[in-house]
Amino acid sequence: MTQNRQWLIDGNPRGRALALSDFKENLSELVPLEDGEVRVKVEVLSFEPSQKGQLEVIAGYSAGGTMGEVMGARGVGEVVESRFPDVPEGSKVVGVLGWQEFATVKGKVLEVVPDDDFLTARLGPLGAQGLTAYFGLLRIGQPEAGDTVMVSGAAGAVGSIVGQIAKISGCKTIGTAGGPEKCDWIQEIGFDHAIDYKSENVKSRLKEVAFDGVNVFFDNVGGPVLNDVLARISNHARVVICGGISRYEQETLPAGPANYFNVVFRQAKMEGFLLRGYEHDYPEALARIKGWMESGELQFREDMQEGFDNIPATLKRLFSGANIGKQLLRL
Ligand SMILES: NC(=O)c1ccc[n+]([C@@H]2O[C@H](COP(=O)([O-])OP(=O)(O)OC[C@H]3O[C@@H](n4cnc5c(N)ncnc54)[C@H](OP(=O)(O)O)[C@@H]3O)[C@@H](O)[C@H]2O)c1
Repeated sequence: MTQNRQWLIDGNPRGRALALSDFKENLSELVPLEDGEVRVKVEVLSFEPSQKGQLEVIAGYSAGGTMGEVMGARGVGEVVESRFPDVPEGSKVVGVLGWQEFATVKGKVLEVVPDDDFLTARLGPLGAQGLTAYFGLLRIGQPEAGDTVMVSGAAGAVGSIVGQIAKISGCKTIGTAGGPEKCDWIQEIGFDHAIDYKSENVKSRLKEVAFDGVNVFFDNVGGPVLNDVLARISNHARVVICGGISRYEQETLPAGPANYFNVVFRQAKMEGFLLRGYEHDYPEALARIKGWMESGELQFREDMQEGFDNIPATLKRLFSGANIGKQLLRL
């Protein structure tokens, strides 16, 4: 009988930074499959800021985790044993596989995918991050050609795609990111301007690069950057609240943005976005994103870490800003 190495939830980081001690290693025996189940050898795991929320059991945003359970995570892997005919042995699959070497799951919840060059992209641009960027920008932000579109967290998995879709839509694009390497990269992939929010004054840089104001702001970060952009929104601007990672590790909730009243003066809209509810339109969105990737109009970058032992530390990279592009780990 093969043994299975796993990382279990062993802490609740609510109101504080994630710690390596929030997880503990476990060794379990693999038991025979039941009808309908498949066994997947986990190959690559996806890391997402919402996984911290998963540990904190935030109802309504991500599925709650429980102390002692295997840490949940999406991933890709190969089926090594199957008692579900639609997902045969040897298939590549995407699904919630968890932080472990082998996942034993119901075959019906897995998506069988081709073993092609886009295999791991299904955890990023052709997965939740691409879809979040697509629907959040196009449905909520509603950019028009000629608009100035600004994105925070622009060198991340979602933000880098938002900026490129805005560019494809004929907009001027501005991104904020932490550090010169990230700022150089987003300009390489087509952003017109990059603002290093860690070393530059966002408000004064915005006066230079968005003199006429920001028509669409896609916010992944919240906090001071959101406040500075609210001061520069144009008439009838659309502010898309996709994420607020600057608050995810704080002990007390920050005060609201002081400049929010500019939403009134500018007759602007501020709207929260969740991916759920757009499932019906996924096939069309994914076909368009894949088309842009194939034509070279949309580039993506994977930050691939290695090794089972490094799984918890890899989740922490999202909160220190160590990742550039989509954070993944190959087991
Ligand atoms: N609404 C939805 O349905 C939905 C779905 C998916 C994701 N999201 C949200 O989208 C955002 C981006 O997710 P992602 O998966 O693409 O992650 P990501 O941007 O690839 O990684 C997180 C990035 O956030 C930045 N960051 C971390 N701590 C920060 C802080 N205190 N202040 C400012 N920036 C900070 C870091 O970049 P820098 O080095 O540039 O600081 C880091 O690289 C998150 O807020 C996430 O919760 C929402």
